[in-house]
Amino acid sequence: MIKVAVSGALGRMGANIGRLVNEAPDLTLVGGIDVREGTLFETEVVPAAKIDEFLKEKRPDVLVDFTVAAAAVENVRAAARNGVALVVGTTGFSPEQREVIRGAVEGNVPAVISSNFSVGVNIFWKLVREAARELGDYDIEVTEAHHRHKKDAPSGTAKTILDILDEEIGNREKAYGRVGMTERKNEIGVHVIRGGDIVGDHAVLFAGNFECIEISHRAYDRAVFAQGAVRAVRWVVGKEPRMYTMQDVLGI
Ligand SMILES: NC(=O)c1ccc[n+]([C@@H]2O[C@H](COP(=O)([O-])OP(=O)(O)OC[C@H]3O[C@@H](n4cnc5c(N)ncnc54)[C@H](O)[C@@H]3O)[C@@H](O)[C@H]2O)c1
Repeated sequence: MIKVAVSGALGRMGANIGRLVNEAPDLTLVGGIDVREGTLFETEVVPAAKIDEFLKEKRPDVLVDFTVAAAAVENVRAAARNGVALVVGTTGFSPEQREVIRGAVEGNVPAVISSNFSVGVNIFWKLVREAARELGDYDIEVTEAHHRHKKDAPSGTAKTILDILDEEIGNREKAYGRVGMTERKNEIGVHVIRGGDIVGDHAVLFAGNFECIEISHRAYDRAVFAQGAVRAVRWVVGKEPRMYTMQDVLGI
């Protein structure tokens, strides 16, 4: 039995992960952490300030974190202090926050950290990399759309797309939307849409003379991220104490 705790327990993703863990015969939900009060499938949800006591008392094998960047950094540090493996899906980290996470994790606990836990998006990133290798001289535009409540922009998944493009074609200027008299040069256009209950759409357009190729992914239900995160929970237990990505989990 793998004991699992969820931070961000009362959020959209926390609820989805709680449900899957609760239903899985090989996983036990030991409780949740949130800044709000509530319960997660009849387990206790404790305030974020009490995370150390909670981890010492419940002794989960894995803490799954889907919160907000500043909170996730503190939760990762607490898990690392208490020898609890991590699955982190929170997005919007600054480079400094990433370094704090790396420092807390490396040599202490295994941690799968990914801006997107869906299998499809991990394949989509591979396809984007392959296309960029061949089409680096095409004009490139990145588009993403999410629900009206999403806090960070561009999405973590879109930032990963930009990192892949930088790695394959060199670091190009990014144009975050365009307005007024603009002349296209070598920049990568980045376009963010927020509305309604869109779960998560991403597309990369490569436009050349006489042709365009567009690679896109659409998530219909956030259960797809929760399923991937639970797959990472099962995988991370017993791994060497360092940072991993979903690509490691999937072996791709
Ligand atoms: N990696 C992925 O596959 C993936 C998929 C979807 C969402 N996300 C990311 O996951 C995060 C959460 O998304 P969401 O839609 O569930 O958001 P949400 O706002 O519905 O949920 C976040 C929850 O975290 C709680 N919280 C805030 N501070 C906390 C703290 N210090 N400790 C514990 N809990 C705290 C909030 O009260 C809330 O219940 C976002 O960063 C989002 O971008 C990642």
